[in-house]
Amino acid sequence: MRAAVYEGPRTVTVKDVPDAKIEHPCDIIVKITSTNICGSDLHMYEGRTSFETGRTLGHENLGQVVEVGPGISKVKVGEYVVLPFNIACGFCKQCEKGLTNYCLTMQPEPALAGAAYGFAEMGPYQGGQAELLRVPYGDFNALRLGEDAAERQVDYVMLADIFPTGYHATEMADVKPGDQTIVYGAGPVGLMAAYSALLKGAGRVWVADQQPDRLRVAEEIGAIPIDTRRENPAEVVKEATLGLGADNGCECVGYQAHDPEGKEDAALTLNGLIDAVRFTGSLGVVGVFLPEDPGGAKAQDELEGQGKVPFDYGLMWFKGQRMGTGQAPVKRYNRALRDLVAGGKAEPSFLVSHELDLDEAPTAYEKFDARENGWTKVVLHPNGHSA
Ligand SMILES: NC(=O)c1ccc[n+]([C@@H]2O[C@H](COP(=O)([O-])OP(=O)(O)OC[C@H]3O[C@@H](n4cnc5c(N)ncnc54)[C@H](O)[C@@H]3O)[C@@H](O)[C@H]2O)c1
Ligand SMILES: [Zn+2]
Ligand SMILES: [Zn+2]
Repeated sequence: MRAAVYEGPRTVTVKDVPDAKIEHPCDIIVKITSTNICGSDLHMYEGRTSFETGRTLGHENLGQVVEVGPGISKVKVGEYVVLPFNIACGFCKQCEKGLTNYCLTMQPEPALAGAAYGFAEMGPYQGGQAELLRVPYGDFNALRLGEDAAERQVDYVMLADIFPTGYHATEMADVKPGDQTIVYGAGPVGLMAAYSALLKGAGRVWVADQQPDRLRVAEEIGAIPIDTRRENPAEVVKEATLGLGADNGCECVGYQAHDPEGKEDAALTLNGLIDAVRFTGSLGVVGVFLPEDPGGAKAQDELEGQGKVPFDYGLMWFKGQRMGTGQAPVKRYNRALRDLVAGGKAEPSFLVSHELDLDEAPTAYEKFDARENGWTKVVLHPNGHSA
């Protein structure tokens, strides 16, 4: 089968690899018809993680079931399914509590938790930017889609990661109807967080970024754009709220946050959020931060090389704020969000800028990584556009 394989920093090649196959009675094999490139892939693409060369990328996957193992009883061959990026067993201590984002048994490293397809430090699983994908515990992990799946797959594929992740950011931030919410980052995750906050009935949602094309998309869905090249988001929000700040906020940028000149500073958005949110407000941090960042531009900075971010803990404590962090538990939200899509209440494909064949993955990585004007979100179709 063909697959998009990581071959070293800023090098992705589409080539033949062994077909995905059933390795366990509870596996299913999915013919991938839609698979996205994510901001998380870029951390790996840029060589900023331990992701191994020769591995297939892709953790935002949707497709049609083509084979099921003998232990599978629910999912049927021919059904369209969307796969949460988290791979979970369903029976460990964490999964029992709904924490599929930190499943204990799918992560082979005993001291770690959490697994994903084609992801650094999250188990050995291949990614879905390929013609076929092996899905462990298919009955538990696959979310089945309705009859509109094939035509609306560009909406449904957002359920694999960014829609539930954006929603999770708003859950950790405790966004409620009428709230005033600030979102750092107008990438796909930030846009989905803003969209989720608006779906929940937030009164005002600001989105801060330095990319005008992405800010335009934020504005189109009803958020208030803040261009960080010209304005300090915390000042804008405080100015609009009698100096108090937003009720809550979401961090959707991560450790590669940079200033408009391109200088990286992993503390920028965290400190911005603490400043922009009022006393006792909650902060939802879904942007990725790493326990070690030896390949970082600031590896010469000893603290950041060790993943230690100098953030304003004193101010956060003084304001009595709370912060939620980590990978999103996609399964907690994907069924309800699927039904919002099916019922015509949500259309997360609004942010898709490009639908391409798998063979175009190398160019797509290059353009998306450069945050080239207009490249908001790429969906690859490994089995043809009409598949
Ligand atoms: N927690 C999870 O489960 C989860 C899931 C998916 C993605 N992520 C992470 O979320 C983050 C965002 O993902 P994405 O796909 O939207 O990525 P992206 O890289 O496309 O978007 C990031 C955006 O942040 C902007 N940005 C950079 N510095 C900024 C600053 N100082 N202030 C405001 N905006 C700034 C960039 O211009 C860009 O538009 C990444 O770190 C990704 O790894 C986490
Ligand atoms: Zn993703
Ligand atoms: Zn588990």
